[in-house]
Amino acid sequence: MKFFIDTANLDQIKEAQELGILDGVTTNPSLMAKEGITGANNILKHYVDICSIVDGDVSAEVIATDFEGMVKEGEALADLHPQIVVKVPMIKEGIKAIKYFSDKGIKTNCTLVFSVGQALLAAKAGASYVSPFIGRLDDISNDGLNLIDEIRLVYDNYGYETEILAASVRHTMHIVECAKLGADVITAPLSAIEGLLKHPLTDNGLAQFLADYKKGN
Ligand code: E4P
Repeated sequence: MKFFIDTANLDQIKEAQELGILDGVTTNPSLMAKEGITGANNILKHYVDICSIVDGDVSAEVIATDFEGMVKEGEALADLHPQIVVKVPMIKEGIKAIKYFSDKGIKTNCTLVFSVGQALLAAKAGASYVSPFIGRLDDISNDGLNLIDEIRLVYDNYGYETEILAASVRHTMHIVECAKLGADVITAPLSAIEGLLKHPLTDNGLAQFLADYKKGN
């Protein structure tokens, strides 16, 4: 399973990269705003900065909601850096844009996916990644993980190569459950990724080993 970090924070991206397990980065306009990155030029520069840190795919989201606008923005984003994946919303115009980018060999991430039907359309259009938002489904008393399970079944039925990128991951167990269900990628905050490290028996065991070593030295 690939690990992406879901942030526009350069320090956190560096930290995850230094851990040696990072395969890519996802961003969105809200994550950019959270870091105080505003204005088209600053946002474009920030994408390039992210690409210089991480060795993998970096999702950069279009703002336009019409086909021509998405194509124009997406082509400019793709020209920025070879690691850029154009992130396109799951709307009618978005599907047309994904098909266009796919035919041109430009990688895409279909975002804001909340149903199997949407995921099916994204795959048919040739999306490189589909992003089901599991945390936001949980937030409204739907089962986000069940969506991952259902998309996996449908994609496997037909051999679609679109990678399931579990997004809106809120905590460490989301990552573990997505791995059990066969998600190809998770994108998560650094805190959820680092949660995988933790176990009290590891801490206790290490403390005991170090204490016993000191006794003999
Ligand atoms: C995915 O690419 C999105 O950036 C992200 O996972 C959204 O997560 P949220 O629901 O925590 O905002």
